[in-house]
Amino acid sequence: MLSYQHIYHAGNPADVHKHASLCVVLQHLTQKDKPLTYLETHAGRGVYDLSCAEALKTREAEKGFLKLKKQKELKDHIYFALQDRIEKEIGANIYAGSAFIAEALLRASDTLHLMELHPQEYQALYRLMRYPNTHLHHRDGYEGGLALCPPQPRRGILVIDPSYEVKTEYDKVANFLLKLHKKWAEGVLFLWYPVLNEALHRPMVEKLLTAGFPKLYQSEIRFPDVKEGMIGSGVIVINTPYQSEKELNEIKKWF
Ligand SMILES: C[S@@+](CC[C@H](N)C(=O)[O-])C[C@H]1O[C@@H](n2cnc3c(N)ncnc32)[C@H](O)[C@@H]1O
Repeated sequence: MLSYQHIYHAGNPADVHKHASLCVVLQHLTQKDKPLTYLETHAGRGVYDLSCAEALKTREAEKGFLKLKKQKELKDHIYFALQDRIEKEIGANIYAGSAFIAEALLRASDTLHLMELHPQEYQALYRLMRYPNTHLHHRDGYEGGLALCPPQPRRGILVIDPSYEVKTEYDKVANFLLKLHKKWAEGVLFLWYPVLNEALHRPMVEKLLTAGFPKLYQSEIRFPDVKEGMIGSGVIVINTPYQSEKELNEIKKWF
């Protein structure tokens, strides 16, 4: 089932939590000169126009990115500085998703593998991201992620940001990460998940937190005014880059 389109949700509080955390992790990973591989299983379309009809239908960014970007003390945070730069370079109201954030923060010596299954989203990504170090895959991210790992260079990160359209996806994600870690023990694995009223995420989170992964980090936030549906957002990182936890925890205070 591929009915989910991220444009309806781009820039919402969960996206801010996910994308700001990703910026911090990538900033830490790029402190060393050594090249790295970035893989993403559910890449989306790269950038989202917050002034288009779909985004205006839900207006979700107004409670997230658009609200927080007005806070002067956050302006120099890598996430807001990057979104500002992208808006200046690409156009007003353009919001960068994970794939474009990665492209903007990584170096020419790094390699990107972006997987996306939805034909329309893949086409949009293909039109936007024609860079020599970027490989685009119109394929299932779970199958592709396992097939491409361990990558070359071995140093790197895999981002998994599924749409959780079916209830079984939570279990699929946990099993995927367990298998992936066996194949690529040193890889940084970055997962985003929704915190729902029905608590569907809980068995997955429990399985991941008790699996014995090295350098495990979890950040789970609740949105104070939301009582139904997605009431919060979670990020789990395996092999968390050295000394990045403090900055990751700072992001929680924004909500
Ligand atoms: C939450 S969105 C990703 C948003 C993106 N990571 C971002 O930050 O801009 C999930 C995406 O996964 C795609 N998708 C769903 N199932 C997939 C699968 N099995 N393999 C690859 N992509 C898939 C959807 O079409 C959708 O674009």
